[in-house]
Amino acid sequence: MTDDLNEAARAILRANDRGGYTVPNGRVYPFQWNWDSAFVAMGFDTFDRDRAWAEIESLFSAQWEDGFVPHIVFWKDDPGYFPGPAVWGTDRTPMTSGITQPPVAATMLRQLWDSAVAAGEADTYRSRAAALFPKLLEWHRWFARNRDPEGRGIVVALHPWETGRDNSPEWDAPGEPIDITNVGDYVRRDTGHLDAKMRPTKLEYDRYLALVQYGRAQGWDHARIAATNPFRVADVGMSMMLLRANRDLLALAEALGRGADAEELRGLIARAEAGIGWLWDEAKGTWCSRDLLTGRHSGFVTSASFLSFYAGVSDPAKDAAMLAHLERIAGRVAHLMPSLDPDDPGFQMIRYWRGPVWAVVNWMIGTGLAEAGHAGSAAKVRQDTLDLIARNGFYEAFSPIDGTGSGGDDFSWTAAIWLAWNAR
Ligand code: SER
Repeated sequence: MTDDLNEAARAILRANDRGGYTVPNGRVYPFQWNWDSAFVAMGFDTFDRDRAWAEIESLFSAQWEDGFVPHIVFWKDDPGYFPGPAVWGTDRTPMTSGITQPPVAATMLRQLWDSAVAAGEADTYRSRAAALFPKLLEWHRWFARNRDPEGRGIVVALHPWETGRDNSPEWDAPGEPIDITNVGDYVRRDTGHLDAKMRPTKLEYDRYLALVQYGRAQGWDHARIAATNPFRVADVGMSMMLLRANRDLLALAEALGRGADAEELRGLIARAEAGIGWLWDEAKGTWCSRDLLTGRHSGFVTSASFLSFYAGVSDPAKDAAMLAHLERIAGRVAHLMPSLDPDDPGFQMIRYWRGPVWAVVNWMIGTGLAEAGHAGSAAKVRQDTLDLIARNGFYEAFSPIDGTGSGGDDFSWTAAIWLAWNAR
């Protein structure tokens, strides 16, 4: 059965390959998405190394001059998605969105590099790694310049879509100041493909669009938007992922003999190690996001709260508190890790980021727990992920209660995580 599922996962990646880039799902998400592509590269790497590298290369070929890497690259338009390139109005070639997404590409590139080294192919891939490295470093510098106003080593998100966890309740209170009165009429496409119960609400979509209109009105000037946007939230997920990505980029700098860049990355890592504690909510005993405009912690235990291990942030008391949350949650659901604490009254088992389990987040949580020496919990997160996929299919996400698939099927990053965890 495992062999069949490996082959099914490879078939999904091949079918979603549009020639140099991969769509997350042909119907719901018909373009190249930033963090999807990074994870997808790790999946391709289990059977087609050259294609894996090409995925990251195509994403970075859409990088802007200021170092920014967009969350969507619209290589060609598709009427099945809203909001498409005409709504974003970034006026770029290729067409792109104007916001970014969680910085996991450096971590995935390090996975590709290590696997090339292990296969004795370092010489073949060294020049490709050397060509990608400065682009990744420029992106990480862009985050430090534009998204970390106090120099805490955190990432401020300016749109819920940037966090990748679109409708997490973490954005409810910080989203209230967004003025939605002039959003106008629009037709959603997501709810044409999928049951609306699995998707964000109308109020959330109005806020998403209001923020797109705001960025567009600022001419997508990233510095200006960062200084004035009505939504500015230090995202625990992106912050932990960037810290981890800086560590992986440092390993690449060392492997490529880039001493000055390595020194700069050590500085970014030290800054985050000193500052990321700002995202610890002592009252709730959890890592969580924090509204930059009010200083308020969200107080929510989400799947992103457990990324501290992946980030290499270690503190005995905080680790113990997170492991206790993990045990408590494991006692409440059949499958880890729900995107929202099941003890929260807002928990909904199939609504996008308010309950469902996401394979990519589990990969990061499981990898972090294993590295931190919590082998039992790491193994459970991995096994739960594989069981969900084996029993239900390669869905976008899954109910943590009964495993029902949520969102799109034949999903690229779910196939990639299956391959990364099962076929390596
Ligand atoms: N995840 C968003 C969507 O659902 C866009 O990034 O369309």
